[in-house]
Amino acid sequence: VSAPDLAGRHVVVSAGGTREPLDPVRYLGNRSSGKQGYALARTAAARGARVTLIEANTGITDPAGVDVVHVGTAVQLREAVLKAAADADAVVMAAAVADFRPAAYATGKIKKKDGEEPAPVALVRNPDILAEIAGERPRPGQVVVGFAAETDDVLANGRLKLARKGCDLLVVNEVGERKTFGAEENEAVVLAADGGETPVPYGPKEALADVVWDLVVPRLGPAGLD
Ligand code: C5P
Repeated sequence: VSAPDLAGRHVVVSAGGTREPLDPVRYLGNRSSGKQGYALARTAAARGARVTLIEANTGITDPAGVDVVHVGTAVQLREAVLKAAADADAVVMAAAVADFRPAAYATGKIKKKDGEEPAPVALVRNPDILAEIAGERPRPGQVVVGFAAETDDVLANGRLKLARKGCDLLVVNEVGERKTFGAEENEAVVLAADGGETPVPYGPKEALADVVWDLVVPRLGPAGLD
């Protein structure tokens, strides 16, 4: 059993992958399973935190002792995260948020027409929730953590992303065939804005989650009143 070093703290974790609808039956999505986010939520609860888990399209059963908010799209995820972050000591964005969404939503199913080429799908940018939270820090002293999946120059790209997003910690993992998506295990390096670099060997997603909380705890501001 881990130390209750998150007792008296409220943490927000996002998990899963957003789905951006084209029409009532179709969406643009991604392969995020949500397992890493659930591992973060479970381990935080085990360490004594009050946990709000904002979940997008995982199909995973709600963990006991965790407040779960179910969302579908990036815009809904943003609203739920901003609301929960208002009094949070830490926010961990483990969800895979679609960078773009279809510019238009068809209220009826899009039909194919004989002899016609398909219409191109126009996209617009989704808000960058991590950058927004890291920039605004809804609560003073809040610790903000992001995730990055990279396929090459993992550490160099991770450093650039950490700076661009303005978060305190960035969990970088190399993705590729066989790696990470949907797997039970993960391998990563956690980069810190203060220059720290913590490699986490291939192992259960719970183990990586505990390393993240180990790095969050010493960075937390003074405990609040809740
Ligand atoms: O830019 P990229 O998608 O690689 O960044 C990944 C990190 O940023 C993850 O922590 C993800 O949850 C977050 N993100 C976000 N809003 C977006 C895109 C990504 O919060 N629109």
